[in-house]
Amino acid sequence: MSVKFAVLGHGVVGSGVVELFYKNKESIEKKAGTEMEVKYILDLREFPDSPYADKFTKDFNDILNDDEVTAVAECMGGLEPAFTFVKACLEKGKSVSTSNKELVAEKGDILLKIAKEKNCNFFFEASVGGAIPIIRPLHKCLAGNDITECAGILNGTTNFILTKMYNDNMPFDEALSLAQQLGYAEKDPTADIEGHDACRKICIISSLVFGKHVYPKSVYTKGISGIDLADVQIADNMGYSIKLIASVKKQENDKILPAVMPMLTPHADIISNVSDVFNAVVVNGDGFDKAMFYGRGAGKLPTASAVLGDVIDSVKHKVTVFSQSWESAEDDSFIDCIDNFKAKWYFRVPADAQVSAKEQTASDNGISFISESELTFAQAQAEAEKLGAMAVIPVLE
Ligand code: HSE
Repeated sequence: MSVKFAVLGHGVVGSGVVELFYKNKESIEKKAGTEMEVKYILDLREFPDSPYADKFTKDFNDILNDDEVTAVAECMGGLEPAFTFVKACLEKGKSVSTSNKELVAEKGDILLKIAKEKNCNFFFEASVGGAIPIIRPLHKCLAGNDITECAGILNGTTNFILTKMYNDNMPFDEALSLAQQLGYAEKDPTADIEGHDACRKICIISSLVFGKHVYPKSVYTKGISGIDLADVQIADNMGYSIKLIASVKKQENDKILPAVMPMLTPHADIISNVSDVFNAVVVNGDGFDKAMFYGRGAGKLPTASAVLGDVIDSVKHKVTVFSQSWESAEDDSFIDCIDNFKAKWYFRVPADAQVSAKEQTASDNGISFISESELTFAQAQAEAEKLGAMAVIPVLE
């Protein structure tokens, strides 16, 4: 008897899941150890020309009340109705695999708890880093370590835009519209540009690694909309690329400090050379030192690949696999204040500012320099105000 699964949403990712499943059905079934079939596709729109037209339903209850459906792929995005649907599926013991970052970042603790109670699975490999396997390595392969830091590029759209701007002098709006056409950007691309998407992803990583739910509202988040092309060019001449970096670090006071902000990355650092839609995450831990995860961070089939991997896993493992989920944590006192974030900082200040740094770069746009020692976020902001800085950006070490 074949295992039946349903796909919620037939947008970029959902249609990719169905496409990739039927393309590789034979080998997927061998890996799953059973025949499999998509029984339903949930979407409110009409798809009369689709080869899967007979599978469409507009009524979620068709899926919920069909006991033959044991696994569900949620690819709708957004918090509602995704949360209500996913919760209802898990409560009925149907395993859910999702690509929905917002859902996991806001409600992951609740959904993991229900999955555990109902002895089914809530998987979300596709929610961080697109095709890159990062959730399972953090949760399983590296579980024997004390992980101290994760940092990297977690948003494909902004990395694509920055790359097009640097390499091809493509205007920001044109690069964004290309990213939208390629299916990389969120429905509302503000979530990409202003760093909210990367924030949700670092929340998921932080919750998984440190065991307590980190909510987006607790994370300092700054996107790329304030980045001036002058700083991109000056930084390049100084040996750096500007990248949108999402990071979380264990602090000396035992708190954790997650943050999202543009940072200068040295050209010699591999992160600096991560281009286009690619994502990369560097993880530091006591046993293994450093590990890097790299791959396509967005797009139809790369994201579908991660969702399908989860669906196959949930078909193979009918009992809860993520038994170590994370705790709910309304009290966020385990998160350190952004004022304590430490780094060297790039400043661009007016030509007549009193600058003591030995190495300075003068241009038509003022004087640029990198602080000789590390400064906290609070110290850097105070220094920027004192000097009337036009730009103050941390440097990734
Ligand atoms: N908008 C997201 C990105 C999609 O650009 O990374 C993948 O999560």
